[in-house]
Amino acid sequence: MGTVILGIESSCDDTSAAVIRERRLLSNVIAGQDVHRKYGGVVPELASRAHQQNIVPVVDRALKEAGVSRHEIDAVAYTRGPGLLGSLLVGSSFTKGFTAALGIPMIEVNHLQAHIMVHFIQSEISPGPSPSFPFLCLLVSGGHTQLVVVRDHHNMEIIGRTIDDAAGEAFDKCAKLLGLPYPGGPHVDRLAREGDPLRFSFNKPRLEGFDYSFSGLKTSFLYMLRDNVKEDPDFIEENKADLAASLQKTIIDILLNKLRRASRKTGIRQIALAGGVSANSALREAIGEEALKNSWELFIPPLNYTTDNAAMIAITGYYRYLEGHFSSDDVTPLARMYF
Ligand code: KG4
Ligand code: ZN
Repeated sequence: MGTVILGIESSCDDTSAAVIRERRLLSNVIAGQDVHRKYGGVVPELASRAHQQNIVPVVDRALKEAGVSRHEIDAVAYTRGPGLLGSLLVGSSFTKGFTAALGIPMIEVNHLQAHIMVHFIQSEISPGPSPSFPFLCLLVSGGHTQLVVVRDHHNMEIIGRTIDDAAGEAFDKCAKLLGLPYPGGPHVDRLAREGDPLRFSFNKPRLEGFDYSFSGLKTSFLYMLRDNVKEDPDFIEENKADLAASLQKTIIDILLNKLRRASRKTGIRQIALAGGVSANSALREAIGEEALKNSWELFIPPLNYTTDNAAMIAITGYYRYLEGHFSSDDVTPLARMYF
């Protein structure tokens, strides 16, 4: 009947459970947490509490939607890190209890590797071929921005990373300055469709190698707004769409510039995108154009698998299961976790 893995994701503010049979996704249930909206960012203690409330019903629903009974599950994969410790503890404690009760193994998963592994999920919305190895992945999320050479399902090397803010943070922090709700990335994306991306220009970092930096852009955006608001208090309101479009273009230019260079230097032409920011419509379009120019074979994940979800944990767990990578009971979550 094939190996069945239950995946559990609780690293930030989404509680999610998914069921996978081999590579085929049977369910992927995500419960977001609206409680953070009024604070303009994720409040860790509220996140852990909401995970605690959500986890049992979310797992229940994932099993029901998959049409799988708990006795059919071969192993449970869960996010060990990186993420908010209190949030991770909910997923890992649940997994320990659940696997102990059923007498099945648990499998720890690195959240960032899991974002990349969405390219191996088979489902109605991702029927296409998966990348072959090696491929180069631009992983852009709220907490991380990395260029990763993926050699196989378990062997990945980070060749570039942000030295300060992540791309998602740049979207979210600048969106906040524009008075947009949290998380701001999707709002900037929507607004930018009506704006002129060439209207304003902002500082771009000059970093050697493949590393990224986004804190300078945030500062440049802040000062520009501050100077203009002094002259005209309605500046932001009157120019919101152009500001969003210009900010978005700058972030995309920075991301693609290093990706282009990394592809040239490594000679890798299979390019994949992953992480929450890869939901950005302009980034998806721009990387498509770049792929045509550079003869890249491009892999863009379906929107449902870009932001945090447990399908990515389940597929990673499946490949770890095949290798017998099981965790012992005394494994603890890690706020920082490397690979
Ligand atoms: O991967 P993810 O769900 O969580 C982390 O692991 O960090 O990424 C969340 C990030 C947030 O910063 C959010 O603003 C951003 O992804 N994001 C977007 C879009 N959708 C989500 N950024 C730009 N455009 C979008 N459409
Ligand atoms: Zn994530």
